Formats: sequence, structure tokens, C-alpha cells
Amino acid sequence: MASIQMERIVKDYSTMRAIHGIDLEIPDGEFVAFVGPSGCGKSTLLRMVAGLEEISSGTLRIGNRVVNHIEPRDRDVAMVFQDYALYPHMTIAENIGFGLKMRGIKRHEIEKQVEKAADILQIGDLLDRKPGQLSGGQRQRVAMGRAIVRNPQVFLFDEPLSNLDAKLRVAMRTQIKRLHEMLRTTTIYVTHDQVEAMTLADRVVILRRGEIVQAGSPVEVYSSPNCQFVGEFIGSPQMNVLRARVHRQADRTTLEIADARIPVKQIDLPAGTEIHVGIRPEHLNWCSPEDAYLSPLLDVCEPLGSDTMAICLLGEQELTARLDPKLPLKRKEQIHLNFSTENLHVFDRESGRKVPFVG
Ligand SMILES: Nc1ncnc2c1ncn2[C@@H]1O[C@H](COP(=O)(O)OP(=O)(O)OP(=O)(O)O)[C@@H](O)[C@H]1O
Ligand SMILES: [Mg+2]
Repeated sequence: MASIQMERIVKDYSTMRAIHGIDLEIPDGEFVAFVGPSGCGKSTLLRMVAGLEEISSGTLRIGNRVVNHIEPRDRDVAMVFQDYALYPHMTIAENIGFGLKMRGIKRHEIEKQVEKAADILQIGDLLDRKPGQLSGGQRQRVAMGRAIVRNPQVFLFDEPLSNLDAKLRVAMRTQIKRLHEMLRTTTIYVTHDQVEAMTLADRVVILRRGEIVQAGSPVEVYSSPNCQFVGEFIGSPQMNVLRARVHRQADRTTLEIADARIPVKQIDLPAGTEIHVGIRPEHLNWCSPEDAYLSPLLDVCEPLGSDTMAICLLGEQELTARLDPKLPLKRKEQIHLNFSTENLHVFDRESGRKVPFVG
């Protein structure tokens, strides 16, 4: 196992700069997820760690050794891709052991390693089959088996589950988590699926346009997003973001949202400043008309069984509330909602940066 250190890592392609000077330290044994929209540079950064992409500038260390100019095979990392790239003519056992064979490891030692990996992944009964005779999830496990037998210092995953159906993806997610708990190998996992990132990782690194916007534990990035982008990217359904304005009268500070004036303790912005206010769907509470801050029109109901997503219109702004499915919700009627101001997030309307605020 090994730590990974990135210092001012830059990647220039001929036409554009894809990675803009990234600093990141991944301690030994940590599971880190890179998450962000398509094209933000997740794969590029991962491929630089693997050695598949040249580093334009900056320093990359794996286990305190600078590896910028070390060949991929000498970096002691194992990568699992989205398309598992198994050899179709080889058996599963041969596929898993192939890397070891190439390194000249003795046959009985390979067999031992392959059996051990197959045991961990519960594919022991598939070893004599060919990849064509396996399901997608089983093939994915074989690809992981191939990575495990190499006993690398670092695992690198690039969207390994994105070819699987939703149910299998959840099952494999649990497998990967178990695997990490067992082996404790330092892992970087790339995904554009924030739920996958949150459920798997010790730390979630959110990338945007080749830069890190926030890195923190799943709870931190969820409950304290440092900008509107992270607030909206993490969490499903998405955080509501409403237009608002700071209002002051004597000592009293309020936020004007639609036609409501919501008292808050402190916000360091002049009266009249236009802001964005973020509130998560689960923080909106159904209430009586007298207690309401907001009374939007219910537009669409999405019953999920455990909760119902009430998609409402507040003027022309959309607002989603996660409500009790037993509530008498009727389309096109007004509903009444309030919230605790502690659960609000305030963002600068132009830059999207978080504005210090006490609710
Ligand atoms: N070989 C290349 N030559 C030029 N530009 C590239 C090359 N590979 C990637 N890019 C560009 O670099 C940026 C980052 O690409 P990258 O593949 O790292 O994104 P990603 O975050 O993995 O996206 P996705 O979620 O779609 O896989 C993109 O704008 C992409 O078009
Ligand atoms: Mg990618």
C-alpha cells in the first residue's frame, strides 16, 4: 500500500489545458472518489496516476517515490476500466492470472493467487468458463480479480460499473466496498455518479473544468458545500436554489424569497444584495398556512414509497420537497412549507461561492 501525492499537476493537450494544477494528498489506505460532470478531467487525472498519460508539469508521488517518468508497469498500480477488456479466448482463470504469467510467476503460485481472488469475489465456480459465457457483473468481477492478484500498491477504477444495469450496479458497489474494507489498498475511483462516490468513498473530490472545487468526507460535501456547484451536484434530488434578496429593517435581517421575509441571525452583505439560497428537498417541511414561509403550487408528485417528491412551482421557480407519502397531496393546489434557517445555504449569485451566514 502507498500514499499518493499530487503537486501542481497540469495536463496540456495540444488543443487545451485539461488539468489546471491540482494539489491532492491521498493517505495510505484511503478510498477517494473523483466525481464531476463529463469532461471535467477525472479520467485524465486518473490516467496520469496510472502512467497512461504524460504529466505536463507538477510532481506525482506514489509511496514517496516521484513517478512522473516511471513506466506504468513499474508503478505498482492496477487499473480497472469501464470495458473490462478480458481476453475472449482465455478461461476466467487464465484471464485473472495473465498478468502474473507475464511476470514469470510459477504456475502453482498463479493458481493459488487466482483461487484466492476468486474466493474473495465469489467467482470460484466460473474459473473454467470463457468471458462470453458470463454476465456483465461477473465479467466486472473478473476484471477486479485481475487487479487483485497483482496485489498492487494502488487500485485505480475508471467508471467500472457504468455498463451494468441499476440493480447490479448497487450490488457491485457493495462488493467493491467490502473489498476495500478487506484489503485496505489505496484506491482512486472515478465516477460521474455522485451516489456511487458518496457511498463508496472515505473522501469525495469534486472536479470541475480541470480543478478541484471541494474535497471532503461524504457528510462534509453534502452538508457544507463550499459553492453552489457542489451543493447542486451532490445530493439527489438536487438541492433547490432560489433567488433571494437581503433585507434589513432596524436590527432585523431577513431574506426575501418570493413574497416571504425570512428572519436570519447574520449575513455579512449589504441590504438589497441579490443572492441565491439553497435548501435541500428533505429540509422543507409540510406545515399549516399560518406557519408557512413558502406556499408554492404543487405541480407533479413522484411517489417513491418511503417518501413522495413534491415538485412545486414558486412563481416561475421550481422547488422540490421530500414529503411524507401519507400527506393529502393534490396537484395544482397550493401547499405550505417552512424550514429551519440553519438548513439554508447562501451563495453569491454571480460567482456561486458560499456566503458566510448564520441562520
Ligand atoms: N487525447 C486527448 N486529446 C485532447 N483532448 C483530450 C484528450 N483526452 C481528453 N481530452 C479533453 O480533456 C478534457 C477532460 O477529459 P476526461 O476524459 O478526463 O474527462 P472525464 O471527466 O473523464 O469525462 P467523462 O465523465 O465524460 O468520462 C475533456 O475536455 C476532453 O475533451
Ligand atoms: Mg472519463
